[in-house]
Amino acid sequence: MITLSGKKALVTGIANNRSIAWSIAQKLHEAGASLAITYLPDEKGRFESKVRELTAPLAPEIYAPCNVQDDAQIAELFETITRKWGNLDILIHCLAFANRDDLQGPFSQIGREGYSLAMDVSAYSLIALCRAALPLMGPGSSVVTLTYIGGVRVMPGYGVMGSAKAALEANTRYLASDLGSREVRVNAVSAGPIRTLAASAVNIHEAIHKTEAVSPLKRSVTQAEVANAVLFLCSDLASAITGQTLYADCGFSIVGG
Ligand SMILES: NC(=O)c1ccc[n+]([C@@H]2O[C@H](COP(=O)([O-])OP(=O)(O)OC[C@H]3O[C@@H](n4cnc5c(N)ncnc54)[C@H](O)[C@@H]3O)[C@@H](O)[C@H]2O)c1
Repeated sequence: MITLSGKKALVTGIANNRSIAWSIAQKLHEAGASLAITYLPDEKGRFESKVRELTAPLAPEIYAPCNVQDDAQIAELFETITRKWGNLDILIHCLAFANRDDLQGPFSQIGREGYSLAMDVSAYSLIALCRAALPLMGPGSSVVTLTYIGGVRVMPGYGVMGSAKAALEANTRYLASDLGSREVRVNAVSAGPIRTLAASAVNIHEAIHKTEAVSPLKRSVTQAEVANAVLFLCSDLASAITGQTLYADCGFSIVGG
């Protein structure tokens, strides 16, 4: 059994009880980690109240707004963590966004603005969060992000997010190289398709049916199974693993033709 007792973990990307980040937060909590949870702020505070209500049983020690497009919010988040904890062992980057038209429309029609938006939220944000977290992260710390096979292969309805995930996976490798001398590890988990809020914008039903038909395990992955892979990468069991993309996809990625 993996234990993370005494470890402090920041989990981004919880929107509701289907979020992969919600399963990750539960696994980290079960393993004994203390939690800081962020939510995407909106005018009516709906996300905040939903996230607070959902995560209350995990007794997070920190709640903070964080729109990753806003440098001031990122700075404030890490000031709060510095004040309350003084250090950070685990950073979970579990978020993405793109305009629906840039996912489902013709790839050649993606405009500069939509491309930049997808890249900024879904790929650059990993660099921004790592930079802010770095002063708090000591040897043995771990960063994990979530990616999808659409960053490596063309998946229907994935469009600009394919470019963003390719960049995210490259960022994972370059950050791992940069932070390795501090013994901070950076990895990605490439999850198979799961019905979530973000996934409703892409062709997720088709992807799930295809995975059920052709993957070696003849099914798609669950949030909890993805979270188990993340938990492993956060633990000392993965102490020699960095810069990798680990597939938690019921084997879909090995299947050809
Ligand atoms: N669901 C899948 O099939 C699947 C497969 C592989 C990878 N992923 C990845 O997993 C991660 C989590 O997605 P999910 O499927 O759990 O969906 P989700 O909708 O539950 O989570 C996406 C999160 O991104 C957050 N977000 C969007 N824009 C933001 C911003 N500007 N600042 C801060 N947060 C922002 C949302 O608030 C939400 O919490 C994403 O990176 C997604 O690409 C999902």
